[in-house]
Amino acid sequence: MTNDLLIEKVKHTFQKRFESNPILCFSPGRINLIGEHTDYNQGFVFPAAIDKGIVTAVQKSKKSYCCAYSIDTNEVLEFSLKNICPIKNGGWRNYVLGIVAEIQKTNREIENFNLVFAGNIPSGAGLSSSAALENSIAFGLNELFELRFTKKEMIYISQKAEHNYVGVFCGIMDQYASMFGKDEHALLLDCRDLKATYFSIDFKEYDILLINTNVKHSLAESEYNERRLICENVAKRMGILALRDATVEGLLAVKEQITEEEYQKGLFIVEENKRVLKASKVITENDCKVFGELLFESHDGLQHQYKVSCSELDFLIDQAKKNPNVIGARMMGGGFGGCTINIVKKGASDTFIKTVTPIYFKKFNKNLSRYDVRISQGTHKIIMVKN
Ligand code: GLA
Repeated sequence: MTNDLLIEKVKHTFQKRFESNPILCFSPGRINLIGEHTDYNQGFVFPAAIDKGIVTAVQKSKKSYCCAYSIDTNEVLEFSLKNICPIKNGGWRNYVLGIVAEIQKTNREIENFNLVFAGNIPSGAGLSSSAALENSIAFGLNELFELRFTKKEMIYISQKAEHNYVGVFCGIMDQYASMFGKDEHALLLDCRDLKATYFSIDFKEYDILLINTNVKHSLAESEYNERRLICENVAKRMGILALRDATVEGLLAVKEQITEEEYQKGLFIVEENKRVLKASKVITENDCKVFGELLFESHDGLQHQYKVSCSELDFLIDQAKKNPNVIGARMMGGGFGGCTINIVKKGASDTFIKTVTPIYFKKFNKNLSRYDVRISQGTHKIIMVKN
């Protein structure tokens, strides 16, 4: 669905349900060119916001409770602003409650409100529909109640909502990219001090192609949290603040005190950080070939060292390696399913997809989905209508 249609749908649904005109905002999903699992190690990432995301409508309510409606799942959540707590297996509800709870912790006043949202990014595809939802709610409530949060404060609210209400101890990459994205630019983000440098992205004779494995492993969240813990333990063992400060020599020095698994994971972070910096350098030199190789290397590390891939993703990367028109590819996002990002010669994407689809189906009995995305602007207000 196009963004225009999505906006219309959310607006009309809100007006019909709540008989008032809402504030509307759009929050995009993101791609990540390179730099996976480095964000919570205070390292570097290279994401970009895309032209698909979540539209959220909010307005004050005269009732004595809040009401949120998810168009895509056709589910309603009614709640009081007093005594907010997470719901077990609450899905999208915990994003709404989490944002409200985190705003309340800052002692800003919010009143009862109605909220409607819908999206055109699939969840579980590694495109950060979660961060898009969090940011759109935080941004919408900030507008509605004139809370005067800065964008940076809002992304921390989003991140904390995910930690405390969803239970995923995510880094800051997704929320940052979704909030601060810029048309046709990727951002090299230093996750230690949140300094971002924008890079104009034009792969000249190549396109970015996303292919969704349509796999979402239920273990993804616990595995994610476990990886984060391992990294923190290795850093502690090394006597450094975070693996961002680690070197190969430093890791070798503690190799005897940690397991091989831990060593490999630490090594992956050290190497992935280096790859991100190199990628941002070669992009300014228009060296797409080297950029592509870095993507393949990144996948290799994610598969064998960090162990967050899965057979479906690995299969797609092997197919990409076999195709001379694909100069780089890797899994994208947290892992265990979701999308691969591919750098494909212009005009060759159709043939690549046509070749891979039947063999993927034969092997996994699953269909692939293809996404063509445009690098686009971050979270913003669509219209401003106040009662
Ligand atoms: C998820 C998290 C991010 C980041 C990626 C992996 O998308 O939300 O913070 O850690 O995984 O790079």
